[in-house]
Amino acid sequence: MQLMEEKIIAEGQVLPGGILKVGSFLNQMIDTAFLKEMSEEIARLYADCGVSKILTIESSGISIATAVGMQMGVPVVFAKKHKTSNVDGAVYSTSVHSFTHNTDYTVVVSSDYLLAGDNVLLVDDFLANGKALLGLIDLAEQAGASVSGAAVAIEKGFQGGGDKLRAQGVRVESLAIIDSMTDTDVTFRP
Ligand code: G4P
Repeated sequence: MQLMEEKIIAEGQVLPGGILKVGSFLNQMIDTAFLKEMSEEIARLYADCGVSKILTIESSGISIATAVGMQMGVPVVFAKKHKTSNVDGAVYSTSVHSFTHNTDYTVVVSSDYLLAGDNVLLVDDFLANGKALLGLIDLAEQAGASVSGAAVAIEKGFQGGGDKLRAQGVRVESLAIIDSMTDTDVTFRP
């Protein structure tokens, strides 16, 4: 998506450790007009797939997932990183390794909200090593739901997670794929 690449060039900031800061439009302040454009594009890409639910993971994935759900007219479910008192009863749970934070965390979703027969679209803001998406696929499989694919705003192609998922047969659509980035330059996959 040309607009996403332009937005990253205009507003993104490369931080030490290969982190791209996009707080001005995606991660802290949300550019709502741009969010609408992103969600329209993702809804267009998966328009004919019979998606019944969007599945994401808290917290930064929720805004883009909700916008996509509104475009597609389907509910949005988000996996929680902690089992809190407002998640009671049976849950599906899985462990996700975060390279960025160098830790494992458990994500849970209530079995009331993810059903056998659901056809889910996974949506997230970033795809780096792909562990979050693998965790969501595991949750969907536990529920007996099928997965149409994944849509992410920004894929860090140099971390390889997207390509590993594609090699496993998962459809992954990214609005921009970054092949490399330095303090002064961001290169996108054509
Ligand atoms: P993975 O899921 O693809 O394996 O990625 P990883 O564990 O490395 O990512 C962990 C967290 O860091 C995720 O958010 C992810 O969205 C975010 N992240 C990864 N790389 C970048 C980056 O370059 N820039 C920004 N802004 N975020 C990045 P999280 O820890 O789950 O936190 P949150 O969703 O609550 O914000």
